[in-house]
Amino acid sequence: MKLEFLNGDCLKTLPTLSAESFDLVVTSPPYNLGINYSSFKDTAPREEFLAWCKQWATEVKRVMADDASFFLNIGAAPSNPLLPHQLILALTEEPDPLFILQNTFHWIKSISIETTAGQQISAGHFKPINSKRYVNDCHEYVFHLTKTGNVPLDRRSAGVPYQDKSNIARWGHTGGKDLRCRGNTWFIPYETIQSRKGERPHPATFPVALAAQCIKIQGKAEATRMLDPFLGIGSSALAAKSIGIASFTGIEIDPDYLAVAKRRLDPPKEPGSLT
Ligand SMILES: C[S@@+](CC[C@H](N)C(=O)[O-])C[C@H]1O[C@@H](n2cnc3c(N)ncnc32)[C@H](O)[C@@H]1O
Repeated sequence: MKLEFLNGDCLKTLPTLSAESFDLVVTSPPYNLGINYSSFKDTAPREEFLAWCKQWATEVKRVMADDASFFLNIGAAPSNPLLPHQLILALTEEPDPLFILQNTFHWIKSISIETTAGQQISAGHFKPINSKRYVNDCHEYVFHLTKTGNVPLDRRSAGVPYQDKSNIARWGHTGGKDLRCRGNTWFIPYETIQSRKGERPHPATFPVALAAQCIKIQGKAEATRMLDPFLGIGSSALAAKSIGIASFTGIEIDPDYLAVAKRRLDPPKEPGSLT
């Protein structure tokens, strides 16, 4: 895989990349929720933040091929629930929308279900909050944005087996395969770690498996040229490497986070601590 890591402000770096040169963008920008990043102040007034997002998203659109997919991950805070909705409205606003919202995925970090046999199962990790008015926040959004709203996906590449196997023969579209589209609720827990400082030294990462699912579903398989303009410590790059796509470009403003990303992609030969 061709790998390119660029240190800098994506607003300055994106304009140096060729137009229509990427098939897939998977990213998670700063959330404007006062997160304590090393080199980025995450406390801008909301209007300013949305205007900044429109600026970099315009550049993202320029470097996307016409049939490319843009997966935009953003979460909220219980006390700041409108942020994801404000952002998606800003990016799809009429009369001149930057993007069409083609799909909305819910990244479920933790879930409790009761099986038909009455067994209670809880799985995943989340940050519990102590509040009388808010419940624990166990999900984030992944918005799937495209230029046309009509980009074909490989839905079953991230599919799941049928619960009722008689569906395989009953429905023609299965082609005899025991695999159905997973839908838009994605249960993807954080990887379990022993030490945040040693293993995940960044305040707001997404799991490698989240980016991997976006790569699979967007449908260009190994030919994919992928971009993450807010690379952090490189979770999207690790997903790209694990699937073995054609190329990956990551941009990160903070040299320390970028150094961690490089180490995660090319770990020292000794059994290392960074996952
Ligand atoms: C939500 S985090 C991304 C984390 C990443 N998905 C991961 O799993 O490691 C956002 C990142 O954007 C970086 N950042 C903030 N402003 C930036 C800018 N103007 N250009 C490039 N990177 C920026 C921050 O330093 C932070 O690492």
